[in-house]
Amino acid sequence: MDTILWLLHGARMAWPTDWTAVFDRRAPLLMEIGFGGADFLVNLARTRPEANVIGVELSLPSLKKGAKKLETAGLVNGRVIQGTGQLVLWALCQPDSLSEVIINFPDPWPKERHHGRRLINAQFLHLLATRLKVGGQLDVATDHAGYAAWIARHLEQSPYFASRLASPYIHADPDRLITKYEQKGFDEGRSGYYFKWQRNDTPAPNPFPTPKELSMPHVILNSPLSLEEIGRRFTPQSTKGENVHVELLEAYQSAHDGKLLVEAYIKEEPLTQRVGLVVRRRELGDLVVGLHEVGFPRPTPGVQLAVASLARWVVGLDPASAIVRSNVSVESRD
Ligand SMILES: C[S@@+](CC[C@H](N)C(=O)[O-])C[C@H]1O[C@@H](n2cnc3c(N)ncnc32)[C@H](O)[C@@H]1O
Repeated sequence: MDTILWLLHGARMAWPTDWTAVFDRRAPLLMEIGFGGADFLVNLARTRPEANVIGVELSLPSLKKGAKKLETAGLVNGRVIQGTGQLVLWALCQPDSLSEVIINFPDPWPKERHHGRRLINAQFLHLLATRLKVGGQLDVATDHAGYAAWIARHLEQSPYFASRLASPYIHADPDRLITKYEQKGFDEGRSGYYFKWQRNDTPAPNPFPTPKELSMPHVILNSPLSLEEIGRRFTPQSTKGENVHVELLEAYQSAHDGKLLVEAYIKEEPLTQRVGLVVRRRELGDLVVGLHEVGFPRPTPGVQLAVASLARWVVGLDPASAIVRSNVSVESRD
């Protein structure tokens, strides 16, 4: 067998993902976010054979290591997923679907100006509250005193969680497997803060709807301008929509058939995409603006907005231009 079974690409998985199909069985779902060296994750899969265990990581070396370790141990109840915890929870997991979430030593971002980058914040806890089942467990460990105080404050302020202990955290948890980062902290004289909380039964509204994939966007238009001229006149531009930010960054022209490829950056929570938009001439003489298939783009509302704004810009270049047909809304946003 190879690691193909164990390593999954979050950006390519279905929204939401059918975990029963992924694991080929229905079982309680456990997630470790930011598993790093993966020994804790592998131990979790080994000691919890009754559960389906998902490890989420951004770092490719960690993902490869995790997949290899699961493979070597023959643990078919474990998977590693490339992506952020936020994306995997929001887009891939249904509400009330997780039994346990574990976060070991999330990056502490000690400088005050970087606190906005911390994984644990009010929005993230709200997202977790929507995805965890009532009674579902949330275990967090850190060795950074400032982050521990921050986590305690955010958990205490959240209406959706309660500590399973008499205090917000404990300083020693002898039953745990020590992680690589934790050991490094011990070696450097730091001690741990271990949070063991659980989802209470307060209903949580869900402002994190599963993202939608729409049809492949295209706009047909007439323009007297050549593709070369359009490419020459391209300038970087940006557009904002409801919860969407689009930047059209650069245009490249194919030496082969003259079509234009426009690089676009699209940010719409919970995902960001870098996609190629294409402007090409059809045999009929008109132009089509659409989405290039390179790199597994997901045709989201943000991608539709990007195609519409590129088409509007092309039409705006010459008064004799006009939209002929479109499956996206191309009305001017001015
Ligand atoms: C300080 S390390 C801790 C690793 C491991 N849990 C341990 O205790 O040894 C934090 C890990 O979280 C990962 N990470 C950071 N932000 C993340 C995010 N938004 N989603 C998933 N993983 C993330 C990093 O790649 C890194 O491996």
